[in-house]
Amino acid sequence: MKAFRALVLAVGSLTWAAAAAQEARTLREAFEGKFLIGAAVNERQFTGADTAGVRVLKEHFNAVVAENCMKCQSLHPEENRYDFTRADRFVDFAEKNGMTVIGHTLIWHSQLPDWFCSDGKGGNASPELLKRRMKEHITAVVGRYKGRVKGWDVVNEAIEDNGSFRKSKFYEILGPEYIYLAFQYAHEADPEAELYYNDYSMANPGKREGVVRLVKELKRRGLRVDAVGMQAHLGMEWPPVDGFEKSMLAFAGAGVKVMITELDLSALPAPRANVGANIADTAEYRKELNPYPDGLPKELSDAWMERMGDFFSLFLKHRDIVTRVNLWGVADGDSWLNYWPVSGRTDYPLLFDRSHRPKPVVDRIIREASTVGTEKTN
Ligand code: XIL
Repeated sequence: MKAFRALVLAVGSLTWAAAAAQEARTLREAFEGKFLIGAAVNERQFTGADTAGVRVLKEHFNAVVAENCMKCQSLHPEENRYDFTRADRFVDFAEKNGMTVIGHTLIWHSQLPDWFCSDGKGGNASPELLKRRMKEHITAVVGRYKGRVKGWDVVNEAIEDNGSFRKSKFYEILGPEYIYLAFQYAHEADPEAELYYNDYSMANPGKREGVVRLVKELKRRGLRVDAVGMQAHLGMEWPPVDGFEKSMLAFAGAGVKVMITELDLSALPAPRANVGANIADTAEYRKELNPYPDGLPKELSDAWMERMGDFFSLFLKHRDIVTRVNLWGVADGDSWLNYWPVSGRTDYPLLFDRSHRPKPVVDRIIREASTVGTEKTN
């Protein structure tokens, strides 16, 4: 009788799982109630020119990030001139399609116009001037999209691999204070908005510890910080899945949620070990760095599918701490990895191929996501 009851239960849950698996056909359906599934969007997409890309976006994703148009260089090219044209269109696009908007990024050493940290005479801006500019920039940008952007990458890439602060212009002029001020200004501009710290190479132990220290310091100062964004620009050899997991748990342990913010998996050889994602670190083109211009060999493609699938399994396993998983682009042809760190390569880092067809791993991800529960433990 007992055995019979167990059998009935087992069959019941199998049918339930099978039914759920059948129901979800798209990534957004599969992750419903678990975490947001997003993509970085480029100008051809938010203006509608890339119709195939837009079709995939609408079908599979429920959150978007601007790949470039909300960065300081785009929004604030000169001290007294903002240009919100593209960012406005991006936010309209997202709202029209019922997608959650994430803002990227307020304070970052890259794609930052020269004037921002300079005194205009060849030297650095004074601490007071830089603070004023940061406050004005953050207030204008966050204020403009108040209530429309769910959360902001407030500071991007402020910690080095060894856990020390990056010696950016911001740091040179203000020390670590610039980070605390950025979070303060962002919160003042939109008290409802979530605030994130975002960085790459997060599985490196030094970086992990540095980011944990930073999160604790922000909290100690009573500043709002909701999540750590792990960029997750992955390679085939690096980082190890368990090292990545260790960082996810360390960040959650520091009292914040975890977001996977810029996920892609390069199939190409790295020009050097542990390449990171600092956009200034480029390398010369060499033919051997671009071995697959006409498609991946089957063995490598299979290994790629498996590794990407394993990372999604990890995100699902920790759905109680993960609130968003965001791909850094829609289809392979869009990816920045075709021009960084080496320009002119053909890479295969995303979930949809150059013809916008879902790769086989998408099916695995949807099936797996559909068969785990939606319960959140906190
Ligand atoms: C990249 C964009 O994808 C490129 O189009 C642009 O030329 C350079 O920046 N970390 C980040 C992202 O936080 O903003 C970067 O995006 C990739 C690395």
